[in-house]
Amino acid sequence: MAEQPVLRADELNKTYWNGPEKTIALDNVNLEIRKGELLAIYGPSGSGKTTLLFLLGGFDKPTSGRILLDGIEISNMDEHRLSRIRRSTVGFVFQNYNLVEDLTVQENISLTMMFEGKTEEEMKDRTAELLDEVGLIGKERQRPSQLSAGEQQRVAIARALANRPRLVLMDEPTGNLDQDNSRAIMKLVTSISNAGGVTFIIATHNLEIVQETRSRLFLKAGRAATDFMSRS
Ligand SMILES: Nc1ncnc2c1ncn2[C@@H]1O[C@H](COP(=O)(O)OP(=O)(O)O)[C@@H](O)[C@H]1O
Ligand SMILES: [Mg+2]
Repeated sequence: MAEQPVLRADELNKTYWNGPEKTIALDNVNLEIRKGELLAIYGPSGSGKTTLLFLLGGFDKPTSGRILLDGIEISNMDEHRLSRIRRSTVGFVFQNYNLVEDLTVQENISLTMMFEGKTEEEMKDRTAELLDEVGLIGKERQRPSQLSAGEQQRVAIARALANRPRLVLMDEPTGNLDQDNSRAIMKLVTSISNAGGVTFIIATHNLEIVQETRSRLFLKAGRAATDFMSRS
């Protein structure tokens, strides 16, 4: 039997209402991603990328359709169970990093582990490991404002990886970076991805990223393009 996908979305629809005004952000989107894959969701601004990532990570609910994470439906799950799954299974890298300005790099990374009930020592060891992985050793006591955009993105990635998630969702990870930093971040993501186990979904409008990924979903005005996924 074929391995069950890590994540599967069936006929996802998301409609936003602002008073009488209706926006169809996602229109009948299907996708399937297997363990260890790196999928790029590519589309112009407003095509529904962020909406889709938020649904896939269980941060929001679809208007209709189903999302299965490891075969378990999360699209109708109550918030209590969902927040536990999010913390232990999903890592999210937000478009603007969402680092806590008053906390150091070390504390920012430890925060999600604290919610998981890790001990001081476990958090310290794991943070050191992560800082090594993302190339930020020596920066543990800095605050986000003292870091470059590329470094802040590395902290956000380290934080997303802290609880060893099986799925990492990244929203425009190179959106605020110049070309050299974009390439360095993608190299980092690719190497983590190649090490195995972690599945990445990256929303982007950067063609260079798309060219590097084997799995792609093209979105346009909330709809997946007809040849909606490609694997070479
Ligand atoms: N909370 C919201 N309320 C109303 N409309 C929204 C909301 N969030 C997103 N939208 C609309 O949904 C569409 C898709 O948005 P989004 O998912 O942010 O696209 P992308 O990330 O590709 O730029 C856009 O038309 C956007 O204006
Ligand atoms: Mg977006």
